[in-house]
Amino acid sequence: MKSYSCGELNKKHVGTEVTLAGWVDRRRDHGGLIFIDLRNRDGIVQVAFNPEVSKQCHEVASEMRSEYVVRVWGKVAARPPGTENPKLATGDVEVVAENVEILNSAKTPPFYINEDTEVEETLRLRYRYLDLRRTRMKENLILRHRAVKFIRDFLDAKGFVEVETPILIKSTPEGARDYLVPSRLHPGKFYALPQSPQQLKQLLMVAGVEKYFQVARCFRDEDTRADRQPEFTQLDLEMSFIEEEDILSLFEELFTVMVEAIKPEMRVIRPFPRFTYDEATGRYGTDKPDVRFGLEIGDLADIVAQSSFSIFRSVIADGGRVKGICAPGCASYTRRQLDELNKLVKDFGAGGLVTILLGTAPGSLDDLTMDMVKSVAAKFLTLDQIKQMAGRLGASMGDLLLIVAGRDEVVSLALGELRQEMGRRLKLADPNLLAFAFVVDFPLLHWNEKLGRWESEHHPFTAPRDEDVPLLDKTPEKVRGKHYDIICNGYEIGGGSLRIYTGELQRKIFRLLGYSDEEVDELFGHLLEAFDYGAPPHGGVAIGLDRLMMLLTGEKTIREVIAFPKTQEATDLTFGAPSPVTEAQLAELHLRLLEEE
Ligand code: AMO
Repeated sequence: MKSYSCGELNKKHVGTEVTLAGWVDRRRDHGGLIFIDLRNRDGIVQVAFNPEVSKQCHEVASEMRSEYVVRVWGKVAARPPGTENPKLATGDVEVVAENVEILNSAKTPPFYINEDTEVEETLRLRYRYLDLRRTRMKENLILRHRAVKFIRDFLDAKGFVEVETPILIKSTPEGARDYLVPSRLHPGKFYALPQSPQQLKQLLMVAGVEKYFQVARCFRDEDTRADRQPEFTQLDLEMSFIEEEDILSLFEELFTVMVEAIKPEMRVIRPFPRFTYDEATGRYGTDKPDVRFGLEIGDLADIVAQSSFSIFRSVIADGGRVKGICAPGCASYTRRQLDELNKLVKDFGAGGLVTILLGTAPGSLDDLTMDMVKSVAAKFLTLDQIKQMAGRLGASMGDLLLIVAGRDEVVSLALGELRQEMGRRLKLADPNLLAFAFVVDFPLLHWNEKLGRWESEHHPFTAPRDEDVPLLDKTPEKVRGKHYDIICNGYEIGGGSLRIYTGELQRKIFRLLGYSDEEVDELFGHLLEAFDYGAPPHGGVAIGLDRLMMLLTGEKTIREVIAFPKTQEATDLTFGAPSPVTEAQLAELHLRLLEEE
């Protein structure tokens, strides 16, 4: 229906007869002349309707409204000098309409499509097909396509094979809650939607596929957040006969060349830094730090242990921690600003925040005197202690020290969040930087206080470090896993591990996790059986594709990079799902609903 796309016309086409089709982005009626901006996927071109060229066309154009679907025949002309639009790729030319047809009319859309204005998200999701017409969303969709295509080509060139795995599988505990699908043919039985293709890709390794990947849809019935959807996409990957290093270097290369190819205005830092879990949580208070900026956490316990500040002393005596960060240039913070920071750390479980304002103007610590220090703790600390703390945290005069005392986990969490907040307030993170990093040496297990049992830090298929295997029996908390995370700008974008590949060790881990032998056979028998038929050493990783795209597009939620996402309440506003089904459908599935209380 069209000979050219709206966005491709330029000076070279002047004099060419073209047929265009698209949507009316804008219509301007200048009395005699009518202009429409005609839009299709790759751009916009101006069409001029001049009654002297065609009276009939001009009449049709006067009926057009925004988002009408039209087809235009005409000749490309250079715009008269002075009327060019440098903001538009096609801004040097216009199409003088000789014939026109309205293919479809359109209701007035519930929000502007031709402007990047804030629109309430529920309205955008309700009319997602209109939202996706908007430039930003369209560009997000296209970048996602480019990324996936790049990844497929890259992995294909390295000898990986994409294998599809089933969506209807068996419910096995994997961390989150399963989505269940009732079976019509087997009354009372259910399939589960995969939380990830984890066990399937391990079976593919036993099958000898050696290098597998899949752009895989995963389903987890858990609370939705900015970076979490009930249904999301992983770049899932598994390899046989490899070491951890093979996976890490593969992804360092992939992300580096991918960013260069599809998002050249963004930078990555190479080599990707590597942190052990202990290092990451110690220095940044979290296992997924944003390392685009410093503000590292410093341990102050040795400095304040002898002070007369009883809060610090008693925390240390109870085996707790006193740690802090420096907020550069923030010594002029007001009472209100300090209260906000205090509230933030309390929200994350800390007892409170000790703030020390170091003078008011920038300068050397050597010039600091006690009367320049503002803090409730000042009268319990010596000038020397304050200077030592400032030195430890890399502070100078004019800076603000933020200190939290308490249990190790609480201090880390609160300072990690505070560090993020100060990074935001001080705009320390370069928006064009993608700071990928690897976190390694996670603990294999953690103790779930509430349930009174061990849980896998990653999943039960992760191998323990060889040298730590003997600790499994007596001190499981000390066992490190062969598990690595890939993080970027404060998000966990991927996680993986080298796997257990012998039935014996796998059974031992299941037992540690509290499963009886019968439960293991019922839930994981298929995998253990496969391990008995010559399973190769293998390992892999899964990247959250939505999170990766969120970072590449600079968006704040993964909903912006998913064509039809669910709301925070896990609903689909375009279709209105979930929705009731008929009695007949339920009966066919052998289901009866309980009366809601
Ligand atoms: P994991 O559970 O860590 O590992 O998931 C891997 C990555 O998937 C992304 N992700 C999500 N993205 C959006 N919404 C969600 N609800 C969601 N949950 C996870 C994250 C995460 O890093 N089978 C293992 C991988 C392996 O061991 O190979 C797995 O699924 O970016």
